[in-house]
Amino acid sequence: MKQVGLPLLVLLLVLSCKQGPKTSETNILQPEAKSPTEMEVGATTQTPKEMGMKFAQETQKVLGKNLMGTIQNKGVEEAVVFCNERAYPLTDSMSMNFNARIKRVSDKPRNPDNAANASELAYIETFKKDVAAGVTLEPILKEVNGKVHFYYPIVTNSMCLNCHGIPGKSIQADVVQHLSRLYPDDKATGYDVNEVRGIWSIVFDAPNDSN
Ligand code: HEC
Repeated sequence: MKQVGLPLLVLLLVLSCKQGPKTSETNILQPEAKSPTEMEVGATTQTPKEMGMKFAQETQKVLGKNLMGTIQNKGVEEAVVFCNERAYPLTDSMSMNFNARIKRVSDKPRNPDNAANASELAYIETFKKDVAAGVTLEPILKEVNGKVHFYYPIVTNSMCLNCHGIPGKSIQADVVQHLSRLYPDDKATGYDVNEVRGIWSIVFDAPNDSN
């Protein structure tokens, strides 16, 4: 639900920016209406929470779109190759894009490089309780030395079970084999839908007007 809510909010912000100035130049309809300024306005009026949500959702969108496309066009096995080869480069390019450090980490990592650290493990536990209690999921934010540390849960849906469900049941046998070859220490199976698979752990510069 949040997934839908935020883009709408951003859209509303953008719209309200356009309508804001009373100096009425009224060239709202003109296409060359200074997009860099708009972007700046958009960026500085965003709260750290909104920024973190945007970074997480945009990265999720890029990963998810490519993943779904590969599964549909080429099957689950090819999609495993995609995740293996592309998850990191795509996440890194989104990090560059947003000037943020964007990571997906887990208490049960498939790729050992995605193992959560001690504080991330604690946040994962918090989010698991939230999911179990059925409360609305809110990101956790900490500000340290001018940097925002943002954490938000990554929750499974049925599509994820193709590769993170029960081996031999929701994960087909050839995929199980392929995964164990690529990830001999794979811990990321046995999930059901609506479980915390991991979290976004994102670090970025605190916006100037954040407090
Ligand atoms: C086609 C198989 C496949 C599907 C479907 C899939 N994943 Fe993964 N997932 C992988 C692979 C492979 C990795 C390891 C990527 C790497 O090496 O960086 C991974 C890694 C992850 C990670 C990073 C932490 C870790 O364990 O290394 C998260 C979080 C994650 N997946 C969540 C999901 C979620 C949520 C879904 C469903 C929306 C999903 N995955 C669907 C194959 C898949």
